[in-house]
Amino acid sequence: MSANKKIPATLIRGDGIGPEISAAAIAILDALDAPFDWDEQQAGMAAFDALGTPLPEATLDSIRKTRLALKGPLTTPVGEGFRSISVELRKLFKLYANVRPARTYVPGGRFEDVDIVLIRENTEGLYVGVEHFIPIDDDPHAVAEASGIITRSGSRRIAEYAFEYAIAHGRRKITIVHKANILKCLSGLFLETANQVAEKYRDRIEVETRIVDACAMHLVQDPSQFDMILTTNMFGDILSDLMAGLVGGLGLTPGANIGKDAAIFEAVHGSAPDIAGQGIANPTALLLAAAMMLDHVGENGKATRLRDAIQATINDGGCLTGDLGGKAGTDEYAQAVIAQLA
Ligand code: NAI
Repeated sequence: MSANKKIPATLIRGDGIGPEISAAAIAILDALDAPFDWDEQQAGMAAFDALGTPLPEATLDSIRKTRLALKGPLTTPVGEGFRSISVELRKLFKLYANVRPARTYVPGGRFEDVDIVLIRENTEGLYVGVEHFIPIDDDPHAVAEASGIITRSGSRRIAEYAFEYAIAHGRRKITIVHKANILKCLSGLFLETANQVAEKYRDRIEVETRIVDACAMHLVQDPSQFDMILTTNMFGDILSDLMAGLVGGLGLTPGANIGKDAAIFEAVHGSAPDIAGQGIANPTALLLAAAMMLDHVGENGKATRLRDAIQATINDGGCLTGDLGGKAGTDEYAQAVIAQLA
């Protein structure tokens, strides 16, 4: 790519710690001379407060145009109010593949050399939001009912994505994670279809299956058994946070939401209201998401420089945020990463 060719991309700073970590990420991407031409838009609680809607049409138009976004975390009211805008964006733009790598960056942690990529189906399952309360007598919430939706085509599409990803990235093994012993239709269809896709790759990629609860225990006992995990929406959401815990916490794990027509990059973590506004959040997860975004647009050299600068800053150890046992603020950490880029 020519030195001055800019790539239009939507930027959503997000809620809670979103503005703080986004500012750090943009400063570092500027120092890296990343090629993005940002179109800044709002979503989530910030948009709701400012514009009366958590998902303004201008934000959707921007993503339709750029087909590429870096997104800070968005707050979702619990139990009432608007539905998750992050989930809504994944549905609207058919971002069916959620790629969540967890890798050891912090030496001396609970486990050395964790390197697992979780591929999560991102648009189906229990997160389709088909749910309602059934009132009985004077209790409007007497019963709650939710439907999970799994399709053969959706399961095939995510399984093919996972196996192609494995081949493109030189991975060796995929663990298909399910709960088909209990959810014989919902999880059974996913398992059946993923196994059918796996047949085509068996000579190149090792395949195994595990039940989600046992998988959670095995991950905590010995993560080195795992290379890639392929699973459905909710199990992937839960296991990817568990994987973040294996490598030092949510401040360190990025995610990519990939579809045919658009891609949105974000941290795995949420808006962390407990530490918002204090200038102490770790921006690394969003930075690693930006590195995935650089890879996505073919800027692999800059992606590697960014990851190396993060690794060097963490190895140096003198300027770490509180979640990693340090005393540095978000901005101070960002300056340390910028110094490592030089
Ligand atoms: P959370 O991920 O925001 O926070 C969990 C814990 O991890 C908190 O103690 C927090 O301080 C810590 N943490 C998270 N990110 C951190 C960082 N970068 N540096 C240091 N510490 C960090 O999860 P929680 O509290 O369950 O959710 C808060 C809000 O975020 C909710 O409204 C939820 O719906 C939303 N959320 C949004 C997501 C998205 O936009 N993709 C993903 C997950 C949650």
